[in-house]
Amino acid sequence: MARAGELTGRKVLITGASSGLGQHFAKLCAAHGAQVAVAARRSDRLRALLEELPADSGRAHAAVELDVCDADAVRKAVRQTAETLGGLDILVNNAGTARSGSPLNQTINDFDAVMDVNLRGVWLMAAECGRYWREKAVPGNIINIASVLGERVASGVAAYCVSKAGVVQMTKAFALDLARHDIRVNALAPGYFETEINAGFFETDAGKQMIKRIPMRRIGNFEDLNGPFLLLASDASRYMTGAIMPVDGGHLVSSM
Ligand SMILES: NC(=O)c1ccc[n+]([C@@H]2O[C@H](COP(=O)([O-])OP(=O)(O)OC[C@H]3O[C@@H](n4cnc5c(N)ncnc54)[C@H](OP(=O)(O)O)[C@@H]3O)[C@@H](O)[C@H]2O)c1
Repeated sequence: MARAGELTGRKVLITGASSGLGQHFAKLCAAHGAQVAVAARRSDRLRALLEELPADSGRAHAAVELDVCDADAVRKAVRQTAETLGGLDILVNNAGTARSGSPLNQTINDFDAVMDVNLRGVWLMAAECGRYWREKAVPGNIINIASVLGERVASGVAAYCVSKAGVVQMTKAFALDLARHDIRVNALAPGYFETEINAGFFETDAGKQMIKRIPMRRIGNFEDLNGPFLLLASDASRYMTGAIMPVDGGHLVSSM
């Protein structure tokens, strides 16, 4: 039986790895034997992260400076990463952004900024990796990082909610179209985890009230994502595609 979490020899590309969840996923993958390419725009942070990743001979990790909204850059980054790592098995489509405020006070630029990263970027990365795997006739595995806000809504982050609902549908639609190429596409839908994307929120009254509405009465620790992430990344989930896995302390089933 495939062991959940076994990633030895797997080559993993992780976007948005310069902070927060992406950085955690990079450390997790490396700790479980994978060779990792970390991508984001802040390359200084990526280089610092590389220093922290366990490596051994024949398992060199890589840093890839990348804006996921740039189609040409994405194409080059996927090809170069596959060349550097000697292949590619898993894409963790994690880069994301948010803009807060009422939709009545935001400009269309705020909307575009969120859609560019959370939808266009996720699409570009998934499509490019998919094309690479189809060309090489090898299996592929995509883990999109959606959100509980792809299924329910919270105040002041309308564009983010819309974008993550798009990621949920993109996960299912890509899963359907790519299964014939032996490419699996699943998503994690995290609840709330303290990172730069929500810096300061949990200290506000609204943040404290929100935590009380989580059935488990706490925000997540990064380690809470380990089991579900490793399940999707490893062969333990080999017959799963199109699944959206909430990791949210029960937030999605909170009482209305
Ligand atoms: N934290 C939560 O509670 C939570 C809950 C549900 C879902 N999520 C999702 O989890 C993912 C990671 O978020 P996080 O919480 O870890 O937030 P974070 O710390 O702000 O990380 C976001 C990452 O995305 C990268 N990024 C943003 N725009 C980019 C672009 N144009 N090109 C390449 N990379 C870009 C950032 O790197 P650079 O700025 O260096 O490019 C950064 O590494 C996001 O998709 C987020 O929506 C988070």
